[in-house]
Parts: sequence; C-alpha cells; structure tokens
Amino acid sequence: MLKIALAKGRLLEQIVPLLAQVGMAPSAEDVKSRKLILPGPDGCEFLIIRAADVCTFVERGAADIGIVGRDLLLEACPQVYEPLDLRIGRCRLCVAAPQDHPDPMLLEAGSTMRVATKYDRLAADFFRDRGIQAELIHLYGSMELAPLVGMADCIVDLVETGGTLRANGLVERATIIDISSRLIVNPASYATKSAQIQPLIRQLRQLVAGQGN
Ligand code: PRP
Repeated sequence: MLKIALAKGRLLEQIVPLLAQVGMAPSAEDVKSRKLILPGPDGCEFLIIRAADVCTFVERGAADIGIVGRDLLLEACPQVYEPLDLRIGRCRLCVAAPQDHPDPMLLEAGSTMRVATKYDRLAADFFRDRGIQAELIHLYGSMELAPLVGMADCIVDLVETGGTLRANGLVERATIIDISSRLIVNPASYATKSAQIQPLIRQLRQLVAGQGN
C-alpha cells in the first residue's frame, strides 16, 4: 500500500488534477475536508501535510513518495531519490528589496546585510558566494513585511506572479534558483515497492512529457 505525501495549500490544486490523469488522486470531497489521511485507489493513502514537512515524511519512510518544491529539497537536502520534475508549481527564489533602497546586489564584498527568509541555507550560500555577510532573520511567512518595518534590508523568498512584491513596493534584485515541483521517493520504498512505484513514475513521466511545459 503506497503512502503519498502531498503539500497542502495552493500546490495541491495543481497536483490533484495531475495525479487524477494517472488514476491516482484522492476524491475532490476528501481534498476539501480537514482530513489528513485521504484514501486513494488500490489501497493507497495520501498524507496531507505542510510543504516544509514533505521531505521529512519521505526521508523517514512515513511516506513512500512525496511531491515537493525544488526550493525545499535544496534547503533540506533529504536522503531521497528525485526521479521526476513534474513541471508544476513553477516559481523562483529571489532576492527582493524596497524599490527606494540601494540594490543589495551592488553592495561591495565584505558588506553586511539583514536578510529575512525561511530559506536560511540557500540565502546564506547565495550571499556567502558573493562575499556578503548575511545576518539571517528567520521568518515563517509574510516575509515582504520585514523590510517595510525596517527589520531587514532585503528578503529571500518565492516569487510566482510578482503580485505580492508589487503590492508592497518591493522589487526583485536577483534570482537565486528556478523552482518546480519534484516527485521524491524513499530509497527503501523504491526497492521494496518497485512494482507499484515504477509504473507510477513511468506514467507521470509520460504525462509530463506529453504536456510539453
Ligand atoms: C508565497 C511567497 C510570497 C508569495 C509570492 O507566500 O512567500 O509571499 O507567495 O507569490 P506571488 O509572486 O504570486 O505574489 P504564500 O502566499 O504562500 O504565504 P506565506 O507568506 O505565508 O509564505
């Protein structure tokens, strides 16, 4: 019986139709419910969890498979297989700052900067590579607020449409990575449940290739 970890939130709206096309989705009614374990075809179960926790569930084998953004994979570096780019959930991890503040990317090496982010590792690596000392301020959401209230000089956060930045007077100053959602697999599950997992990967790969995104 496969356990599949899915992130709640806006990505779920893209994942469920994709899984439905390979006959592996929870029902629409269950998706709308507050249930955290949803039944699926062939006895499989979907675990509905916070995006940042998907890697943990799959790495520890509590889920056999998960769908997670590349940002969270690179931040957490879990010991999992990553066989497929699903090409959904596209966005980018950016440095952004208030329009009327100096561009943080033009700072001289050796400068220090206060950076609000939930991506501590990716932000630290990015600025370290440029010789900037980043003082990281770890936040869990509404990152855009931090420079507006003078708590940070810039943010490192996801940008999809750019609407949140625009609404708050921030501009993108650099792209750190491009992001899409990835299928991840627990290595032990990949070995012991290959009869179920490999056909699923194959079907999804064909589907994604056919969509040509
Ligand atoms: C994400 C992200 C940005 C916003 C970007 O936040 O952290 O704030 O979406 O999307 P946009 O470019 O289309 O405006 P989310 O809405 O997930 O909430 P959060 O602030 O709690 O992370």
